[in-house]
Amino acid sequence: MSPDEVVGAIIAPAGATRRVQRVDLLQYLCQIQHQLNCIPAAAISQLAGALQISAAEVRGVIEFYAFLHEQPRGQYDILFSDNITDQMLGSRNLLAQLCKRLGAEPGIPRDDLRVTIDTTSCTGICEQGPALLVNGRVVSRLDNSRIGQIADLVESEVEVTEWPQAFFLVEDNIQRRDQLLSKQTADLSPDGSALHALLDYGETTLLETIEDSGLQGLGGAGFGTGIKWRRCKQAEADCRYVVCNADEGEPGTFKDRVLMNSYADSVFEGMTLCAGIIGAQHGLLYLRGEYRFLLEPLQQVLQQRRDNGLLGRNILGKQGFDFDIDIHLGAGAYICGEESSLIESLEGKRGIPRKRPPFPTTIGYLNKPTVINNVETFMAAAKIAVLGADWFRSSGTADSPGSKLLSISGDCKRPGVYEYPFGVTIRQILADCGAENTQAVQVAGAAGITLPITEIDRRIAFEDVATAGSFMVFNNDRDLLEMVQNFTHFFAHESCGLCTPCRVGGALLKDLVDKLVHGHATRHDLGEIETIGALMQDTSHCGLGSTAPNPVLDLLRHFPQLVEKRLAHSSYEPAFDLDAALQEARDISGRDDAGAHIEPFK
Ligand SMILES: Cc1cc2nc3c(=O)[nH]c(=O)nc-3n(C[C@H](O)[C@H](O)[C@H](O)COP(=O)(O)O)c2cc1C
Ligand code: SF4
Repeated sequence: MSPDEVVGAIIAPAGATRRVQRVDLLQYLCQIQHQLNCIPAAAISQLAGALQISAAEVRGVIEFYAFLHEQPRGQYDILFSDNITDQMLGSRNLLAQLCKRLGAEPGIPRDDLRVTIDTTSCTGICEQGPALLVNGRVVSRLDNSRIGQIADLVESEVEVTEWPQAFFLVEDNIQRRDQLLSKQTADLSPDGSALHALLDYGETTLLETIEDSGLQGLGGAGFGTGIKWRRCKQAEADCRYVVCNADEGEPGTFKDRVLMNSYADSVFEGMTLCAGIIGAQHGLLYLRGEYRFLLEPLQQVLQQRRDNGLLGRNILGKQGFDFDIDIHLGAGAYICGEESSLIESLEGKRGIPRKRPPFPTTIGYLNKPTVINNVETFMAAAKIAVLGADWFRSSGTADSPGSKLLSISGDCKRPGVYEYPFGVTIRQILADCGAENTQAVQVAGAAGITLPITEIDRRIAFEDVATAGSFMVFNNDRDLLEMVQNFTHFFAHESCGLCTPCRVGGALLKDLVDKLVHGHATRHDLGEIETIGALMQDTSHCGLGSTAPNPVLDLLRHFPQLVEKRLAHSSYEPAFDLDAALQEARDISGRDDAGAHIEPFK
């Protein structure tokens, strides 16, 4: 097929009843990128024409998302996951090795357009890393031999679909089951039973059950799920939406990947339950682009549910209980996990966070009342509907009922997904996962909290250490400044750029942390870090900017001795080498006389 035929088939597939619409722009772009490995200018014009929007608007969307490209990046687009846990497993060396084998520069397409080798933010394969994406497919457990094989496959132009299947193996790695994942729970609440409960007891009773259970959002913020559903139900509207947030972009988090791989039925059941309660007919699951490999299996589960009368029209034979779910793909933007950015992205736009209030429960997707919950929250709600509020409250603490899935990676013998009742101590978790000689744990991802080993008796709970599920372990041999540097770069890269505190503050923090890592920072710079950090926390438009300074501020607070060792002992050091920066000008002009040099600052 020619590129314009590909685009034509994407926007108007044969036999499709859905009309071409602006709201699907991002989905069209994802498919074009997937099939053509870039979005050529002709495709942009074709799309703009079909949607009756400007080419600039299409380009604006492409530029926002890391996985969309106007320029070809070659037959093989290879992106190494660049989370700190991948780095700890040697990803940077492996990247250098592959570049050397293939004669490529990082980030620059090879001259023959065969391959581009670059990095990307955490791919959510942390416990089976280092990982990379090749043309959107995850390759796990990289090592020297696998890198050698990849180089050979690329040079001999073997289609990615023909690469050894073992490369693409992503396991669940569930190491501990508790309330939600236990066999007993599955036996007592098989799929479909939450919807039977809804029909038996009615929506009013089931909403009260969800409220009584005390279920709080398990995607990080911990907002009461029952209250959220009630607010959405009460909002005046002719239609409502249910959205499942499967963006899972927080570095070090991979538990939603596992739930979608092995418990998708329960997740969709939770969404359908919510729809029945609030009166929604349409649901959307926003799947991060890194998890494209889950798309087809998820579609199959949806189809099976339709075939079993658990989705579609007149669910379980109840007249008027109509609900169906579409899956939308993300395209490499961490900010799209933030609920209002996610809505923008679902609407096919750049994922810029909206002003809140109004909250999505009143003005959400397509300006209609919308419930947005995390994958784990929907699954928990489905189980509560069958097993009851008391069952849920029998686990966890008074303020944090239930259990929490943790994604554990880093320096431990048994990384993987662990389910614990809320209230579990860090000490217990470290013992279970086989962590030794631990220096610190990073809980809740880059945006979370760094706990030194002295805080080992802190508890995972909303009233103590809250988390969406990321738990990264660092032993005493690790340089924590490298972790902080990784996270600070991550935030600067992922800032959407809307507001100045985050856009500029994030970039300044990145430079200051680099300076500290390289031994050039002075006490004055530490003061600057504190000031900029506080400003970002107080004035950023959304959670990305307000949490971005956490890692470096925690480092200053908990590890002053590490910082002290790296400080330059002068009163002031410039942030960059001005003389080195002038080298390019000297090279261009061909002059290198003494007057064209600047003395270092003393
Ligand atoms: C920068 C940022 C990224 C976020 N990423 C995610 C995410 O990947 N998954 C998620 O469920 N929630 C994420 N959230 C939280 C969502 O905004 C929202 O609170 C959540 O989806 C609500 O679901 P819950 O109540 O079930 O937790 C993020 C928040 C921020 C500020
Ligand atoms: S805080 Fe950062 S990510 Fe959030 S709106 Fe501002 S610039 Fe965008």
